[in-house]
Amino acid sequence: MFKGNILITGGTGYIGSHTCIELIESGYNPIIVDNLSNSDIQVLQRIEDITGLRPDFYEIDLCNRNDIEQISKDIKIDGVIHFAAFKSVNESVEKPLDYYHNNLESLINILRFCTEREIRKIVFSSSCTVYGNAEKLPVTENTPLKKASSPYGNTKKISEDIITDYVKTNPEFTCISLRYFNPAGAHPSAKIGELPRGIPNNLLPYLTQTAVGLRDELSVYGSDYNTKDGTAIRDYIHVSDLANAHVKAFEFMQSGKMNGNYDFFNLGSGNGYTVLEVIQSYEKVSQQKLPYKIVNRRPGDVEKIWASTEKAEKVLGFKPSRSLDDITKTAWEWEKHYRKNIEKSI
Ligand SMILES: NC(=O)c1ccc[n+]([C@@H]2O[C@H](COP(=O)([O-])OP(=O)(O)OC[C@H]3O[C@@H](n4cnc5c(N)ncnc54)[C@H](O)[C@@H]3O)[C@@H](O)[C@H]2O)c1
Repeated sequence: MFKGNILITGGTGYIGSHTCIELIESGYNPIIVDNLSNSDIQVLQRIEDITGLRPDFYEIDLCNRNDIEQISKDIKIDGVIHFAAFKSVNESVEKPLDYYHNNLESLINILRFCTEREIRKIVFSSSCTVYGNAEKLPVTENTPLKKASSPYGNTKKISEDIITDYVKTNPEFTCISLRYFNPAGAHPSAKIGELPRGIPNNLLPYLTQTAVGLRDELSVYGSDYNTKDGTAIRDYIHVSDLANAHVKAFEFMQSGKMNGNYDFFNLGSGNGYTVLEVIQSYEKVSQQKLPYKIVNRRPGDVEKIWASTEKAEKVLGFKPSRSLDDITKTAWEWEKHYRKNIEKSI
């Protein structure tokens, strides 16, 4: 059954492409807008290979307000899921203006677009970085927000503030911000997955690249944290589970059951794993030892964080179904598939 057209900004990216698949499988028609600054056009073909449907695609930079007008007025768009953003914490420290410009300008332009085209529903990609080094765990949606430790984190905090102000004067508009913990893993088909440009900042892609010999060894930042093995704890959520949560969030907005017109949800697994536990899981599924060295803590890194999943479960009916081993296994399968079949064809 056809359920509606949803504009997916950043839809050829990592989380956006997995979400397109979940949307198609749930009866929605995703329309992708992306400037391909951090993704590959081939993703469209792979979405078609997996689902049988090739989404309409607009190569548009959302910072260029006038270009957004290219999006056809003939199609009734029922909602927007706004993924498009730059996402590297480290890069944002080096290039703060690029991050503020790209992440905020694109959001403002999308909100203007929604106003003009009378699109009343938007799901926004936020991040657990808005909580900083939380004093109490697990982190709930009522945990106080802390001053962001990077320009990237600050763009998410400011974006949430922009939406808060926007919905106040546009009561017919509804928005849900989803605060992701650590999205990881890949689609079970191994046809799409995370594809960082350059040296990966995140643990999983660094591990997978080490496993295929692209990186010499992994650096584990800090072994003197107050955790069971001294390494930092994070909450990893499988990207397909995360993608499914977007469908649930959109359907919740459509149900008219929202309390007010703006809400927030944590998306994590509810479990915290140390860096060494992730390495062990990866070694198990890939059946090889991975070289790593312990180095000093990185400034700004949080000691431990994991999500309370209670609100997402109670209100959205969302519960992640995949384990840490599912995450590391699918990430490994994707990395192997990519190196063997895709990289050579680019
Ligand atoms: N991956 C994570 O660990 C993580 C964690 C928390 C939050 N998020 C947020 O989730 C969203 C998606 O992340 P991802 O991991 O899929 O990143 P990604 O880089 O794989 O995808 C983002 C996509 O947006 C596109 N894009 C960027 N700026 C654009 C612009 N101005 N106009 C049009 N397209 C543009 C890129 O080309 C890319 O395809 C981002 O907003 C990110 O900040 C990601």
